[in-house]
Amino acid sequence: MSETSFKLVNETTHESVELPLIRGSIGPTAIDIGRLYKETGNFTYDPGFVSTASCRSAITYIDGEAGVLMYRGYPIEELAKQSSFLEVAYLLLHGNLPSVSELEIFETEVGRHTMIHDSMRHFLRGFHYDAHPMAMLSASIASLSAFYHDEINIEDPDARRLAAIRLIAKMPTIAAACYRYSIGWPMRFPHNNLDYCTRFLHMMYEVPSEPLELNPIATKALELLFILHADHEQNASTSTVRLVGSTGANPYASIAAGIAALWGPAHGGANEAVLKMLEEIGDPANVSKAVARAKDKESGFRLMGFGHRVYKNFDPRAKILRDMCHQVLGELGVDDPLLNVAMKLEEVALNDEYFIERKLYPNVDFYSGIIYKALNIPANMFTVMFSIARTAGWIAHWIEHHETPGARIGRPRQIYTGSVRRAYTPIELR
Ligand code: CMC
Repeated sequence: MSETSFKLVNETTHESVELPLIRGSIGPTAIDIGRLYKETGNFTYDPGFVSTASCRSAITYIDGEAGVLMYRGYPIEELAKQSSFLEVAYLLLHGNLPSVSELEIFETEVGRHTMIHDSMRHFLRGFHYDAHPMAMLSASIASLSAFYHDEINIEDPDARRLAAIRLIAKMPTIAAACYRYSIGWPMRFPHNNLDYCTRFLHMMYEVPSEPLELNPIATKALELLFILHADHEQNASTSTVRLVGSTGANPYASIAAGIAALWGPAHGGANEAVLKMLEEIGDPANVSKAVARAKDKESGFRLMGFGHRVYKNFDPRAKILRDMCHQVLGELGVDDPLLNVAMKLEEVALNDEYFIERKLYPNVDFYSGIIYKALNIPANMFTVMFSIARTAGWIAHWIEHHETPGARIGRPRQIYTGSVRRAYTPIELR
């Protein structure tokens, strides 16, 4: 067996197959099983994709054991400390950090596309007033394909880039419009003289009757949250975007599918679920009871915001956010009983044998939920906030898929466990 291949032997028939190994620039080696079925008639089985790489990607690298996260080779800690969200979005899309003038041009381009078609306001009016903003967001983003249908040529790099800019630009406008609709406020148009995060907060909270005073910590926290949430390699929603994109679907439909995938409580919906859980616990005195319930498998209850499929030692994003969380709570002087429950829960779970043994640490959603709550962002908007940030990563992956020579439609196989062939019984005889 050479160093570049992996030999699989069937112990019954003694037949063997040598499969090529693929190496990335860093990270584990992968066994290329592309010709396994053709050569042996066998599939591989990996539900949950625990050991399966679905693509080659140069965008984000994660080492779950070491708690490393890098965008385009830059550690998340450095980006979080020094970059703006749009700088990170540029990096994800183009592969390199922008120069001062490149960033200025990018900010102007994004600014130019922040408006939405007036018909979209009428579209939003079709929703019931209490519609969940994630339902409104995914439907509205899918509807963009109806507005820009004639201009989408996914084979054209310029058209792909334009779609990326449009999505990054319009997502906050649509997200804020969804929120305002749910509380009966008319939508606010974007001020393009403001930076991305401040502009979003204005669209969320500004009213014509009085000026909006934003505490600088709110914009700082939002910028950080958006940077940390911008990409996370092949998570469920990004894989969804790539899979939908692999069919040749337009970018707006692909991103709408990603939003739907993000909504689930095991993924981006966890930050909203964290808040619901904190409300259920209600008082720091009830925390030990909740921890005991989470340890009892019969209860079906899990601590939301704890654990991660990839990070088994610590989530580097959570480490950064933990500091910001304490800074936000301190500076805003928030005295919210739910936040006291959260802090008690963090303390108890971090010292409990069950959680230590299983390496279940507070994840990014635990702290993001608490920060959003402290910033007065309603719980049903938490996953919407995540979607705004993740759009940069989703669209970078969608573009990367289309730039991959020979990229094919994603089409997993299955192990059929249903009935074998049986005779059809006419209805009158059943
Ligand atoms: N509370 C209590 N026990 C847990 C939890 C939890 N939050 N998470 C995992 N466990 C236990 C689980 O019961 C199992 O125990 P045992 O070995 O005794 O059977 C063990 O830890 C391993 O769990 P798993 O389900 O095999 O782990 P997974 O990698 O399949 O799941 C997860 C990862 C994030 C879905 C899971 O930890 C979870 O449900 N967490 C709560 C939801 C959450 O916070 N999700 C946000 C993830 S981060 C944001 C994102 O990337 O979208």
